[in-house]
Amino acid sequence: MEIIVQSDAETAGKLAARMIRRQIETKPDSVLGLATGGTPLPLYRELIRMHKEEGLDFSRVTTFNLDEYIGLAPEHPRSYHAFMHETFFRHVNISADSIHIPDGLTRDVEALCADYESRILAAGGIDLQVLGIGTDGHIGFNEPGSSLASRTRIKTLTPQTLSDNARFFEEGEIQPHHVITMGIGTILDSRRILLLAFGANKAEAVAAAAEGPITASVPASALQLHPKAHLFLDEPAAEKLTRADYYRWVYDQKPGWQKNI
Ligand code: PGA
Repeated sequence: MEIIVQSDAETAGKLAARMIRRQIETKPDSVLGLATGGTPLPLYRELIRMHKEEGLDFSRVTTFNLDEYIGLAPEHPRSYHAFMHETFFRHVNISADSIHIPDGLTRDVEALCADYESRILAAGGIDLQVLGIGTDGHIGFNEPGSSLASRTRIKTLTPQTLSDNARFFEEGEIQPHHVITMGIGTILDSRRILLLAFGANKAEAVAAAAEGPITASVPASALQLHPKAHLFLDEPAAEKLTRADYYRWVYDQKPGWQKNI
């Protein structure tokens, strides 16, 4: 696991965007796994800037989102379809046919999940997966207790996740308790993983994921098994890491071209 600590979320998001740019420039038909939530916003802002100002080309890119709320139509403003469209897709030149997000209104969850896995395989697998982390250590919506070998399926959110995400819903609005999410096994099959975590409320989950035992109780700890996992943190998210100084030192030893990715 490579742990990169930056002063703030904007700087870390920009650095993560450079890694994605390199991926797309190396392989223009890359398959990207994408995440929602507050965390990836600086990353998406920078990718949009790279597209508009530097011509970063998404025309041959395929995307698979991690998850979606069950019961929300794609056009529902709180759906992850709507979130992705507003914050990213409508600002870049990605083809609508190349975007994949689970359908929260499906009548057959099991068939949809199997189909989602097949589509990922048919696309050649995910080259680079973007992740956030929940305060309870979840990745995607794989809540604590999720099998480390799990595939795309239905999950029930924890009260902690519901409370963390209540800020995205207006008062009186129904907040779904069920989701479709890629599994931990699905995520681990990606060729490269970028996990972003910002803010002191993520510090405990980050430390457990990076330095604690590999356990289904902390789903993000499964990333210790992945050969190419990179964690982009701001200082507050790194504050509970016992080896934070070592990670900073490792980063400082890198040649300039590697530091700037
Ligand atoms: P957040 O969510 O980016 O909104 O903090 C992270 C997650 O739940 O993975």
